[in-house]
Amino acid sequence: NKGRYEHYMQKEIHEQPESLTTTMRGRLIQGGSCKATTVLLGGLKDHMKTIRRSRRIVFVGCGTSYNAALAARPILEELSGVPVTMEIASDLLDRQGPIYREDTAVFVSQSGETADTLLALEYALDNGALCVGITNTVGSAIARKTHCGVHINAGAEIGVASTKAYTSQIVVMAMLALAVGGDTISNQARREAIVDGLYDLPSKVREVLKLDNEMKDLAKQLIAEQSLLVFGRGYNYATALEGALKVKEVSLMHSEGMLAGEMKHGPLALVDENLPIIVIATHDACFSKQQSVIQQLHARRGRLIVVCSKGDAASVCSGGSCRVIEVPQVEDCLQPVVNIVPLQLLAYHLTVLRGHNVDQPRNLAKSVTTQ
Ligand code: UD1
Ligand code: M6R
Repeated sequence: NKGRYEHYMQKEIHEQPESLTTTMRGRLIQGGSCKATTVLLGGLKDHMKTIRRSRRIVFVGCGTSYNAALAARPILEELSGVPVTMEIASDLLDRQGPIYREDTAVFVSQSGETADTLLALEYALDNGALCVGITNTVGSAIARKTHCGVHINAGAEIGVASTKAYTSQIVVMAMLALAVGGDTISNQARREAIVDGLYDLPSKVREVLKLDNEMKDLAKQLIAEQSLLVFGRGYNYATALEGALKVKEVSLMHSEGMLAGEMKHGPLALVDENLPIIVIATHDACFSKQQSVIQQLHARRGRLIVVCSKGDAASVCSGGSCRVIEVPQVEDCLQPVVNIVPLQLLAYHLTVLRGHNVDQPRNLAKSVTTQ
């Protein structure tokens, strides 16, 4: 039931304040007399010791689920101190890459039925790793075959383009980072800031959804373009990949997400006054590096659209012209949840304006159950 919306993708984008609330419900527990909040992931509590002691955590997924894991990787590394590596499921299988008994392998999948992810799970089980699932579908193959896991509880996702599952996956993995990371004095302030950030996230997402008309207006400007680049780094490298994936899969416009740190190593050759480039430059430890990326793009007369934190519009684009999209600032590791929303809206409006099928893009299936 699409309710008051025209398409499922549109409905699912707009219901993210609610789906995020459901994802967190009952999992952030305010601790009695003291102010501290503990994270309770019921499905993992008996396995927490093994996860903490593992030599490595390996994220495995495809498409949007891979991107969500990539967004959560920095905070999991920071809080757990365990090295975190990334695997696209098909590539792990193609290489028959090393997976050991001392590894925790985390399988991220909205449907829980993706063939590549499922086969990678079977491979990791054969190799003796602890296998953890992060799925949206109770009773799915991945939920059943993993040793333990977490349901993201985002509610059924109908649109082929994954939107609300992406943001709920990131939130679950941020909670996983809090749960795996020890509660030490040195990281107490950071943990509290993340927990406060999680509580505030639904209202911040509600705020960023107000950009709907602005993104429709931007879509009108981009409607006839052949191609679009998206640059991000740090926490928002994943935002660049995921924003570009959304645009290409539904609007059928060529679009590439790129690591901003790699710009000078090739992509810079593409820059001219015609190619639209989105730069994610919200306020975090990488901000000054992104400012210098923007300056270098200006120097090549790049056609820029900059996503920045509220209040940064003037400083982010000094020395050139660009279109600025201001988003609310949240704790840095949660910023990808906010930043993806305008790009989801852009992909949606581009698709409708270009007259393509939003919920059932050409050649794609919601769940890819063949290899
Ligand atoms: C569970 C209940 C929830 C109830 C809550 C109350 C289910 C599905 N969930 O939620 O309805 O409100 O207790 O305490 O009944 N699992 C996997 N692989 C996966 C995902 C999950 O093995 O990919 C396992 C978990 O290890 C766990 C079970 O499935 O044993 C349920 O997981 P989850 O729904 O995340 O647990 P809770 O949040 O505790
Ligand atoms: O159900 P899964 O999360 O395992 O699906 C993985 C990908 O097939 C999926 O995310 C795909 O990339 C989406 N169409 C992206 O919107």
